[in-house]
Amino acid sequence: MTNLIKRLPKAELHLHIEGSLEPELMFTLAKKNNINIPYKNIEDIRNAYNFTNLQSFLDIYYAGANVLITKEDFYDLTWEYILKCVEDNVIHTEIFFDPQTHTQRGISFETVITGIKEALNDAKEKYGITSCIIMCFLRHLSQEDAFKTLEESLAFKDDIIAVGLDSSELGNPPSKFEEVFKKAKEEGFKLVAHAGEEADVSYIYEALDLLDIQRIDHGVQSIKSDELMKRLKDEQIPLTVCPNSNIELKVFENYKEHNIKELLDYGLNVTVNSDDPAYFKGYINQNFINLCENLPLSKEDIITLVKNSFKSSFIDEELKKEYLAKVDKAI
Ligand code: ADE
Ligand code: ZN
Repeated sequence: MTNLIKRLPKAELHLHIEGSLEPELMFTLAKKNNINIPYKNIEDIRNAYNFTNLQSFLDIYYAGANVLITKEDFYDLTWEYILKCVEDNVIHTEIFFDPQTHTQRGISFETVITGIKEALNDAKEKYGITSCIIMCFLRHLSQEDAFKTLEESLAFKDDIIAVGLDSSELGNPPSKFEEVFKKAKEEGFKLVAHAGEEADVSYIYEALDLLDIQRIDHGVQSIKSDELMKRLKDEQIPLTVCPNSNIELKVFENYKEHNIKELLDYGLNVTVNSDDPAYFKGYINQNFINLCENLPLSKEDIITLVKNSFKSSFIDEELKKEYLAKVDKAI
């Protein structure tokens, strides 16, 4: 199974670029930029990654992002992730970034996006890896703040394919962002949102019905509603599931408790992704391997999961066909 996982070309649809900041780079950038971080060494950083829920992770994740200052820092961050894609045979990736995490600290939108974009351009040139950028609004901030961010993003519209919604889910339902998502849609952005990671199915219904999203990020709580499960199956709405993340953030107690096999067997359009791999002990292949070691996933299941990602990606139909043919060839 591990061999199959490694050999298959893959797409990743749920990856926060700030969540790919490895402790080594965090330490290097903190020194270079003279930023205080509450860790003496790299081991100290890794020891701090002991989460009890989403919020306990987010507190540490936002503190880590403070070391990112210059365009080159964002380039290096993205390039390191690209090297992991090469290692894991990821040939297409759709990357989230959180502009407000940086603009709030006085780093310009342009600095962030140009650093990321230049690395992605080089990834295409050097390795043939294709990519898209998705801008997420932080849901713990106001809709007004999201509107400001949307305004700022318009100068870089050609570089951003979609708008998403992340950060502290509980208490910040999709309905809080209905107007700004409506405006983003009018501007031509595709739409996704984190929903049903920790919060109940009402958040998933709101994301679908009020925000009109095309993919649900996480969505593992769907299983609690038969009616929602049926709808997700009938409409084949993609779920970008992140197994390591769910375990590290205690959404499920362990991998054996994870519901991905049930979602898949029911006929949902499920994909596997790494979310914040530097914080959650592994990149995409490790997510697949952990699942296979703990759940009765068949080879066909792995192939379905991998194909679902290409089918659910934002690439054009022609490239989708080309990538799906590459998967078949590898099989
Ligand atoms: N930001 C980064 N990772 C996240 C996650 N798993 N859920 C919500 N917001 C996030
Ligand atoms: Zn996420």
